[in-house]
Amino acid sequence: MKRAVTPGTFDPITFGHLDVITRAAQLMDEVIVAVAASAGKNPLFTLEERAELAREATAHLSNVRVEPFSGLLVDFARANEAQVLVKGLRAITDFEYEFQQAALNYELAHELETVFIMSPPQYMYLSSSIVRELSSFGSPVDQFVPPHVAEALARKFAK
Ligand code: COA
Repeated sequence: MKRAVTPGTFDPITFGHLDVITRAAQLMDEVIVAVAASAGKNPLFTLEERAELAREATAHLSNVRVEPFSGLLVDFARANEAQVLVKGLRAITDFEYEFQQAALNYELAHELETVFIMSPPQYMYLSSSIVRELSSFGSPVDQFVPPHVAEALARKFAK
């Protein structure tokens, strides 16, 4: 049984994340979408809101489940008996940062393999902060996120 973890802040989940998760689910027996507390990033959505939005977005993928976590990613992966970390790579600018994280995670847990999935061109520029910014100015975000996420963003910024 190959179990992978796809970690992130998912503030909120986008079609770019979903592309990585869907492709990971085709390669692995089971995928856990690990939604990090990421308190230092001061997220727009609470941890539970981010996990719930991710759960709804991945409900059609039978071998994917969503779990919130705080603490070290390698501890979460070990506790869930995962062998693989899957991360998306969008552009060369992601590489150095991802390389550093993968190296550190390897140092902490040699048994965990980090695998990168390249984003397709249409998602290369996409990020959660771009989606948040567009939505904060009332701009539609339907081409970047599923409908329930667009609605949650609109509700957040209406407050
Ligand atoms: N498509 C679209 N956007 C993507 C993407 C993709 N495939 N991959 C990453 N992104 C974007 C995110 O939307 C986010 O955008 P934003 O910052 O503009 O909002 C940005 O890339 C960063 O993503 P994030 O989800 O915050 O991931 P990260 O690479 O910074 O790492 C964790 C987050 C949770 C994996 C990492 O902080 C972690 O492991 N934390 C636990 C503590 C720990 O173990 N620390 C040691 C790690 S070495």
